[in-house]
Amino acid sequence: MATNPFDEAAARWDDNAHRVRLMGAIGEAILREAAPAPQCSVLDYGCGTGLVGLYLLPHVRDVTGADSSQGMLDVLAGKIAQGRLATMRTLRLNLEHEPPPAARQWDLITVGMAMHHIADVDKVLAAFRAMLRPGGRLCVADLDTEPGTFHGGPMAQSVPHHGFDRREMKDRLTRLGFTDPRDVTVVRFPKPVDGGGEQVFSIFLITATAGTPARES
Ligand SMILES: C[S@@+](CC[C@H](N)C(=O)[O-])C[C@H]1O[C@@H](n2cnc3c(N)ncnc32)[C@H](O)[C@@H]1O
Repeated sequence: MATNPFDEAAARWDDNAHRVRLMGAIGEAILREAAPAPQCSVLDYGCGTGLVGLYLLPHVRDVTGADSSQGMLDVLAGKIAQGRLATMRTLRLNLEHEPPPAARQWDLITVGMAMHHIADVDKVLAAFRAMLRPGGRLCVADLDTEPGTFHGGPMAQSVPHHGFDRREMKDRLTRLGFTDPRDVTVVRFPKPVDGGGEQVFSIFLITATAGTPARES
């Protein structure tokens, strides 16, 4: 079976202080733009070690951190155990290859920097649509379109999307049954790239609402 590069990266994921700061900026933007209510049940998809989900946790009822990497989830489970975080849990899930676990149980789904690692974006977004309660919110934070230099090393060859065009992402969401998609810039930052020098990248946050399908009872 092919190894999952995220399993291998998990133990040292949080050593990258810049990454931790970026994820905090995404968490802050989600709180500002989606304003989740205290009774909100959140799914943080592609949660990694839980940097975004743990940021949101004090503000909502509960957070489920979902990821396809068991290594990432193990690190998050360690944090949950250490902090005795009764309202945070983990879920191994890959919506590209398995159906949503249960219909319409979340008020907010967040995705921080995971979408560009997902080949079949439409399939996963449609699953989110099915998992959100009517009126629930989706928050996708990811890279604006980049020239393919954001990931160095072996990851550079395997990443399926070099960021996203915001307008295309919003059109996609509308096509899949979300309403009122809006975007903001979370942060712009320079990053060293392979071959030397630095490039400036930016991260957007798109929020959208899961509408009620016409024929749903
Ligand atoms: C760049 S990391 C972001 C992790 C975390 N959101 C953070 O900000 O630190 C991407 C995450 O997406 C996960 N991932 C990649 N493909 C996935 C898929 N198809 N389903 C669920 N998770 C996936 C990886 O395992 C990894 O933890």
